[in-house]
Amino acid sequence: MAAEAWYMDGSQEDPRKPHRLEPNEPVSLRQLEALGVFYWKLNADIYESDPELERIRRDRGYSFMDVISIHRDTLPDYEQKLKMFFEEHLHLDDEIRYILDGHAYFDVRSGEERWIRIAMTKGDMITLPAGIYHRFTLDETNYTKAMRLFVGEPVWKAYNRPADDFDARQKYLSSLQERGEKAV
Ligand code: LAC
Ligand code: NI
Repeated sequence: MAAEAWYMDGSQEDPRKPHRLEPNEPVSLRQLEALGVFYWKLNADIYESDPELERIRRDRGYSFMDVISIHRDTLPDYEQKLKMFFEEHLHLDDEIRYILDGHAYFDVRSGEERWIRIAMTKGDMITLPAGIYHRFTLDETNYTKAMRLFVGEPVWKAYNRPADDFDARQKYLSSLQERGEKAV
């Protein structure tokens, strides 16, 4: 099954809860694509020798990869890092993640600045375009293992909002407009 996405409610409750609207307002993969967010489903059981993953990496130039385990016992500075990940931010390059185990939420801003929550689980791979405002959290199971991919030498630098003056942001906004998505 493909990853599920939905518009979030505005509650300030624990971010690890689903935060669905009542009734649920789903977001399709097509809608995500219109925001420049791309998705693949892969077989995470064979990630070390998966020809499908190899093909994607070759086609898109994802030369770098590493694997991180996000859990209280495995990630140094766990609390502080999760807090950082959940700050609304952007990067000057694409953010590419492949979930190998556990669960994670990637939240991205819609063209109208609403939060969309993308529920990622084992086998889900996603790319967030440079310049999109987003954030990350674990869900209530508090664990995920993820492959991080990158075109060339990785740059993990995050710019918290507001970061509107960067070229990457302006280019992203133009790409939204070209696709007919509203860019506020
Ligand atoms: C990152 C994710 C957490 O920047 O958005 O690594
Ligand atoms: Ni990020």
